[in-house]
Amino acid sequence: MENILITGAFGQVGTDLILALKENKPGATIVASDIRIPEKPKPGIQQVVLDVRDQEELRKTISRYNITKIYHLASILSASAEKDPFLAYDININATFGLLKTAYKEHVRSVIIPSSIAVYGPGISRDMVGSGVPTVPQTMYGISKVTGELLGNYFSMKFGLDVRGVRFPGLISYETVPTAGTTDYAVEMFIKAVEGKPYSCYLRPDTFLPMMYMPDAMTSLLMLSDADSGRLKNRMSYNVAAYSFSPEQLAAAIKRHIPGFEVSYNADERQNIADGWPRSLDSSEAMRDWGFSPQYTFDAMVSDMISNLQAIKGRRQNAV
Ligand code: SER
Repeated sequence: MENILITGAFGQVGTDLILALKENKPGATIVASDIRIPEKPKPGIQQVVLDVRDQEELRKTISRYNITKIYHLASILSASAEKDPFLAYDININATFGLLKTAYKEHVRSVIIPSSIAVYGPGISRDMVGSGVPTVPQTMYGISKVTGELLGNYFSMKFGLDVRGVRFPGLISYETVPTAGTTDYAVEMFIKAVEGKPYSCYLRPDTFLPMMYMPDAMTSLLMLSDADSGRLKNRMSYNVAAYSFSPEQLAAAIKRHIPGFEVSYNADERQNIADGWPRSLDSSEAMRDWGFSPQYTFDAMVSDMISNLQAIKGRRQNAV
């Protein structure tokens, strides 16, 4: 039976991963750790306060729950990392190295570390970017994600620790409001539209970025985690994505459901980050090696996001 530790468990990806693991891995012990945990315990999981930089606490947690697998999600995202690159280095690089070292020493079997489109930098052809394209990022977040990929490969080769990772595009979800990333505008736009408010977008209207709906992101993590190791030609850097769109295309799609929705555009420093990232990704290696293909089209994602956010709004209104 698996005993699974999630770091950064109450962020955007972790919140959905807890639900996905509860559904897909019945019987597994799920230990959800984060620097802050919800006051009201969530049912069916263990909640642990853990700063990933604290190796001794991490070791104790792994030992106490006899952890067999770690999803290492704790990370400072792209926009925040540019505001405080030293903190981002400490959490994203030093703590990731510490986690791999502790996982190896404590005999954890496998570690999953999501990577990102941020591993790419300016100077490449930005369309249908494959995993073999050189990764020369100019952001601290990108540098930390490339480092995580390299360390994952190293620990796999040198110590036989089974480390795997996907490169996520922007992720769209309704369970938590993401903050600190560059692709978060997409979620913010949905939230404002459903609240009946206008939205001021911090990217130019024509900024294309690869994106994916969270249910597909969860499928990709679980499929990669369960994939036969012998089939993995590339452990740490599987590109996954579903579609690409720009803010103006998303706004138009939302307006088809909510006609009065208004969006204005005021690009800020996050535009520079987005301009260095791919416009679209080639995810064919994930398809070839472990059969991944996303289920949600752009239109299906837009409809599902709006109906879920409307349901959440309805529940909130009924609660007051
Ligand atoms: N969604 C992330 C960010 O915007 C990219 O992986 O920082």
